[in-house]
Amino acid sequence: MESSLKGKSVLVAGGSSGMGLAVATKAAALGATVHIVGRSPERLAEAKTAINGDVVTHHADISVASDVAALAENIQQVDHIVTTAADLTFKPFIQISDAEIESTFAAKFWGAVYLVRHFASRIPSNGSVTFFGGSAAYKALAGASIVAAVNAALDGFARTLALELAPVRVNVLSPGVVETPAWGFLPEKDRAELLKTIGAGLPVGRVGRPEELADAAIFLMGNGYATGTVLQLDGGTNV
Ligand SMILES: NC(=O)c1ccc[n+]([C@@H]2O[C@H](COP(=O)([O-])OP(=O)(O)OC[C@H]3O[C@@H](n4cnc5c(N)ncnc54)[C@H](OP(=O)(O)O)[C@@H]3O)[C@@H](O)[C@H]2O)c1
Repeated sequence: MESSLKGKSVLVAGGSSGMGLAVATKAAALGATVHIVGRSPERLAEAKTAINGDVVTHHADISVASDVAALAENIQQVDHIVTTAADLTFKPFIQISDAEIESTFAAKFWGAVYLVRHFASRIPSNGSVTFFGGSAAYKALAGASIVAAVNAALDGFARTLALELAPVRVNVLSPGVVETPAWGFLPEKDRAELLKTIGAGLPVGRVGRPEELADAAIFLMGNGYATGTVLQLDGGTNV
């Protein structure tokens, strides 16, 4: 198990916010050169300022194959890839539009596909890939049918890649509800109340913190026995 990431490079797609930012922060603190990828230049600049360490920002939309191809040409080689990038729509299936279904798959599923397609040959044999999935794949939640489908698709994709890309390791980290800017679509008071209510229903009594998921992502990067794993870190969502 690696306790240091000194001399390693880590690419975090989605590294400008939430759990991706927490992963980038921890990886940089452990000595890695961290490449953070996102669509908003402002969020990338803010993240770079917030992270202590060696950080390179990349303005790219990972749901666009040519953006990911250009990213790979630019970065050339990475030891570990993590993707938290997602732009999801939660709606009852009867109401969700085709465009919303497509955008829910865009960064989270297709972005993961393009990252592997363009970086697989650039990851050394002791490297890894980690996709962030989510508990909607295992615990049915009204309004999350397409999100559940994306998360479940990533599980199957990752477990098969763990065979095909070996010895490069491929894992999924599946969070339960975690307080991040992804919940920013709700007014602050409603958000706080909802997260408190969700947390109260869990065995741990609260929702997750980005740093807790970042710890797990660092663990999956460093543990040479972890591959084809779906690590459900969700406060007991499924018990
Ligand atoms: N938060 C939760 O409660 C929760 C629960 C279960 C699972 N998850 C999963 O955990 C992961 C991380 O969630 P989070 O809450 O940390 O998200 P977040 O705070 O909303 O951050 C998402 C990040 O992805 C980037 N991004 C989105 N679309 C992109 C694209 N097409 N290309 C490049 N970057 C893109 C965003 O930056 P730009 O917008 O600037 O591109 C941002 O940096 C996601 O897969 C999410 O589905 C979250």
